[in-house]
Amino acid sequence: MADNNAKLNVGGNAHDFDVLDGSIGPSVVNISSLYKDTGMFTYDPGFTSTASCESKITYIDGDEGTLLYRGYPIEQLADHGDFLESCYLLLYGELPTKAQKDDFVSRVTYHTMIHEQMNRFFSGFRRDAHPMAVMVGTVGALSAFYHDSTDITDPHQRMVASLRMIAKMPTIAAMAYKYHVGQPFVYPRNDLGYAANFLHMCFAVPCEEYKVNPVLARAMDRIFILHADHEQNASTSTVRLAGSSGANPFACIAAGIACLWGPAHGGANEAALNMLSEIGSVDRIPEFVARAKDKNDPFRLMGFGHRVYKNYDPRARIMQKTTHEVLGELGIKDDPLLDVAMELEKIALNDEYFVDKKLYPNIDFYSGITLRALGFPTTMFTVLFALARTVGWIAQWKEMVEDPSQRIGRPRQLYTGAKLRDYTPIDQRR
Ligand code: SDX
Repeated sequence: MADNNAKLNVGGNAHDFDVLDGSIGPSVVNISSLYKDTGMFTYDPGFTSTASCESKITYIDGDEGTLLYRGYPIEQLADHGDFLESCYLLLYGELPTKAQKDDFVSRVTYHTMIHEQMNRFFSGFRRDAHPMAVMVGTVGALSAFYHDSTDITDPHQRMVASLRMIAKMPTIAAMAYKYHVGQPFVYPRNDLGYAANFLHMCFAVPCEEYKVNPVLARAMDRIFILHADHEQNASTSTVRLAGSSGANPFACIAAGIACLWGPAHGGANEAALNMLSEIGSVDRIPEFVARAKDKNDPFRLMGFGHRVYKNYDPRARIMQKTTHEVLGELGIKDDPLLDVAMELEKIALNDEYFVDKKLYPNIDFYSGITLRALGFPTTMFTVLFALARTVGWIAQWKEMVEDPSQRIGRPRQLYTGAKLRDYTPIDQRR
């Protein structure tokens, strides 16, 4: 337990601030009265030392490399549970009983179809549009079809919107893929599990029956679990900030998708696979490692490093295991990109630069190899991340909306621009 008081001396005046302890992890200094007390703001670009909220959902220990969903280690959830069980856990805080799980699965299953008129949305996009552009547009448009679950002050509507988002994301993601590859949309099937249904919607065609490989469906389901939530990352913070204004949940999730698309965040899985393809062979690794270390070269090892993990990302370990499982099931004996990834990891983990900066593989390093083996093009990798992260965004949005102390998020700034000056007519400007 930290000392429950922090002192700050500003302009010769001492100010006391409360220290608040969490159940685990770092304590926080409550500086909410700082501006009122001192006339000063804190300054923390990138929020490296800033807790934006109180949350009970996900805990990460970056030094230990641990990740807990509502206190349960990600390894145990990935090994023993399934994605919809983790969805229930993230949303409601406890593992479901059998009856609760069956009811939840049934409610999600019967929300998987989207309004038939939404199909026309897709034809407005170019076929070669990036699927993430389609996702941002289509998910944002859900509020145009589901007005009856946009009143965030109504707990029932919040619950319906949450279920709709979790249920419809696989359908929309699969439609974005089908549109991208020029194949007809495949409707969801109520007799298939969540991951199997998604794979069926992606890879089935009207000409023949498509049997989902249960080993691949299990791997897909586990990949969804690994991506489900991750504390106050950039896209979750985007969803919270959008939601703090009272925006409807569909608009908030669309904002989260937009943020996740960036290569420094969820877009890293696509960038990591493209990087491995560019490296191409083990003998070119030293050239790229040198570039990653060169301050004058913007190149970074995609899939490496993390704002919080200064140890191995526990999700990357599970993902690596899943990669071998999927390649084994598909009879892929040697995948040159996997060889490059494994060798690159070995070299980087023994290189002083990466060791000093505590840069380890993150979840995006191996996921691309697995997703490509499952049959997805690289442009779909971040879509799959968004599909899985929707439950985390919704759980965090729900926690924020239901927090009685919640207010609109409105950060301040350090202004270094022009001081007050008068307008100059254009004919007097030089
Ligand atoms: C995700 O926040 C989350 O939880 C995100 C996520 C989630 O589940 O939501 O975990 C998902 O986004 C994982 C991260 C995926 N991104 C990448 O793999 C892109 C490559 N990684 C980097 O861009 C970077 O590591 C970040 C963005 C992930 C973290 O950036 P930080 O915390 O701002 O760290 P930094 O950029 O300040 O780097 C610290 C130092 C720098 O060197 P110095 O200025 O101190 O000399 O490490 C270097 C960086 O140059 N560095 C790298 C590097 N990552 C950091 N050098 C080479 N290759 C890299 N990958």
